Amino acid sequence: MLTKSKVQDFLKEIEVDDLVSNFQVMGDDVYIDMTSHSPAMHEKKKLEVAMKQAFASEFGEQINLKLKISSPELPATPVTNEIKGKQIPGIQNIIAIASGKGGVGKSTVAANLAVTLAKMGFKVGLLDADIYGPSVPTMLDTEGQRPISVEVNGRNLMKPIENYGVKMLSIGYFSGANQAVVWRGPMASKALNQMIRDADWGELDFLLIDLPPGTGDIHLSIIQEVPVTGAVIVSTPQHVALADVRKGIAMFNMESINIPVLGLIENMAYFTPEELPDNKYYIFGKQGAQFMAEDLGIPVLGEIPLIQSIREAGDVGRPAALQENSKIAEIYTKTAQNMVESLVERNTNLPPTEAVKITTMAGCSPKKK
Ligand SMILES: Nc1ncnc2c1ncn2[C@@H]1O[C@H](COP(=O)(O)OP(=O)(O)OP(=O)(O)O)[C@@H](O)[C@H]1O
Ligand SMILES: [Mg+2]
Repeated sequence: MLTKSKVQDFLKEIEVDDLVSNFQVMGDDVYIDMTSHSPAMHEKKKLEVAMKQAFASEFGEQINLKLKISSPELPATPVTNEIKGKQIPGIQNIIAIASGKGGVGKSTVAANLAVTLAKMGFKVGLLDADIYGPSVPTMLDTEGQRPISVEVNGRNLMKPIENYGVKMLSIGYFSGANQAVVWRGPMASKALNQMIRDADWGELDFLLIDLPPGTGDIHLSIIQEVPVTGAVIVSTPQHVALADVRKGIAMFNMESINIPVLGLIENMAYFTPEELPDNKYYIFGKQGAQFMAEDLGIPVLGEIPLIQSIREAGDVGRPAALQENSKIAEIYTKTAQNMVESLVERNTNLPPTEAVKITTMAGCSPKKK
């Protein structure tokens, strides 16, 4: 006859008594509530299997073990970096796509990363912060659309436009957008803040922000007022572009700003002619970004070739990364995965479970430290 004290002794013997919060014995039924050492699913499963085996071999197969295994409580306040600006409910990660120099392909990279992350199963938003030269509407084929106003919890919010599984907002969707050209800094940042905070983004894993070129007022206002999780710097391989990368990184590293730089994406890294898809011509120089990244202690997240179809795809509003089973799609996928990995590594202020959740969804595993 199984008794409570026998079970108690046995729990001690197999050294799990400190994990058990409560247990009951009713005939052959044993009810145990316990906490696993780790919140990971496979750890819980392992514990369950081990408990069942141990009980069966000690008390016989007729024992009916009813286990309730809960996760350990995570620290109520995780170790936090100080986050600037008020958190935006529902948005997990805000990533700024920046460059020192203009015209290096930030918007193209942002659009392609956005559709790639959406294809990977993430919920993605894309905010065009280029008030003076918005390109998201053209690059994602949403020109001429107008966001409608929706009421959410008593507030009127603008509803982002959606295409290719990406929610987006841009000053280009609003009438009078041309006037933006004459906006001064404060007005521009007000418009941006509204597009971030007074919009119905819903639940997002990533909000990518396509920044204007340079390191001006708009940048400062965004990175000071919005809780940006990390920055991705886009550069071309030329020396002049790379020299500006330092400026861009210095801006994110400023003491009052302190936004982690997730890595560098080298755009137009090499030229590949359509008729010779396996040839790579390093017309702007080779490995400049690699050396610079090593020097700055940040990873290279990807090398995107200069390909005619990338530009054409941008012009017709269907990002090249959407071309199924293509080399381009593969390159953007790898780049997006590297970005997510870098984010997970740097997200020291997220509890580990959340970081793992992000990694698993992206289909890539966190790098071993
Ligand atoms: N990998 C690429 N291959 C071919 N063309 C590209 C590539 N990347 C960008 N382009 C083209 O280069 C031009 C500039 O790109 P894009 O507008 O993305 O740059 P940007 O950095 O956002 O510019 P700005 O600084 O003005 O915002 C566009 O015509 C785009 O289609
Ligand atoms: Mg741009």
